[in-house]
Amino acid sequence: MTYKTWILKYSPAFLQKRLRDMYFAIKLMPGYVYDFVRFFTYAGLNKSRDDQIQRAARMTLYAHQVEKGLSLAAPRLGFGMTVIPTLLDDIARYMDDYGLDTTVMTALAALNSYVAFHHQLSHPVDHVAQRLDDIVQQYQLSTSAMQSWQGGVTKVNRQSLESARDNGFSTLFASRHSVRQFSGEAIPENNILRAVKLAQKTPSVCNRQSWRVHAFSKPADMAALLAIQGGGRGFAEHASVILVVTTELGSFLGVAERYQAWIDGGMFSMSLCLAFHDLGYGTCCLNWSKEPSADRAMRKVAPIPASEQIVMLIAVGTLPEEFTVACSYRPPVTDLLVMH
Ligand SMILES: Cc1cc2nc3c(=O)[nH]c(=O)nc-3n(C[C@H](O)[C@H](O)[C@H](O)COP(=O)(O)O)c2cc1C
Repeated sequence: MTYKTWILKYSPAFLQKRLRDMYFAIKLMPGYVYDFVRFFTYAGLNKSRDDQIQRAARMTLYAHQVEKGLSLAAPRLGFGMTVIPTLLDDIARYMDDYGLDTTVMTALAALNSYVAFHHQLSHPVDHVAQRLDDIVQQYQLSTSAMQSWQGGVTKVNRQSLESARDNGFSTLFASRHSVRQFSGEAIPENNILRAVKLAQKTPSVCNRQSWRVHAFSKPADMAALLAIQGGGRGFAEHASVILVVTTELGSFLGVAERYQAWIDGGMFSMSLCLAFHDLGYGTCCLNWSKEPSADRAMRKVAPIPASEQIVMLIAVGTLPEEFTVACSYRPPVTDLLVMH
């Protein structure tokens, strides 16, 4: 008789459960330690790790905040002052070390749009314009190249999205943007059902389909969720519905699946965004990479079962005739595709 069969035969059920829990906890540990060491070693979160990839990521994050601010229906004049001075310093320091590349060009283009936007509304932001000029002079950049670079914001009209829908999947896919301006009408429940049904076609590990969608459309509920999420400030309250996409942790059966909740949930979320886009609605994913305190706060206001992992929130809304979106530059595909 093995130890296992002996224990199963002679120990009481409660002790067997405790032993199984202990066994599972011990099995989980090496995976989390391994991930901890990898994330600790390589992630850009530690500012003393200051190499090119991490510095480029920080510039992109700040430049995106500028683009995102410009893509709102009514950007607040003079916004972004918590990130713009750092972004300007980072650009200069980065160019000293690595020269001009697409990350810098995108950041400069976003700042250029920022200055142009304020200039148009007769609210000059001279301190930003001056620093931008200094950078252009110091590194002898061509202003026309900078102005023609894809960055900042661009206009989209609803009509063009409707024709994109009739032109096949790649056109539809390429015409999706994160939308941060909504016209505020309700979305019929049937269309929410249609989008979720389409998204169900998402592949999942062993077809376990762990995803769930919690849809909130009462203004008070939406406001409570958005106050905790934080990244939808200035636009998501005008969405028609806020979705909380979750995955049921009970669907994952092995130690190696400890991150499957985010993989399957992330893929499902992408499908949902595309499905709503196909139905003529705008979406904006809302980040749920949160500290435990935010997760606990969210569970107090949203009746989400404890066993479900929150993956992200998605703001879904009706589209105005014309609206502005962030350019969100994509580098040449050869930067990311490695053919082996
Ligand atoms: C998981 C995830 C979380 C995101 N969180 C936010 C957010 O909190 N607020 C926001 O305005 N945009 C958010 N976005 C949208 C991104 O900023 C956007 O996808 C990116 O800039 C690319 O632009 P595009 O979607 O228009 O192509 C998020 C996107 C993803 C995928």
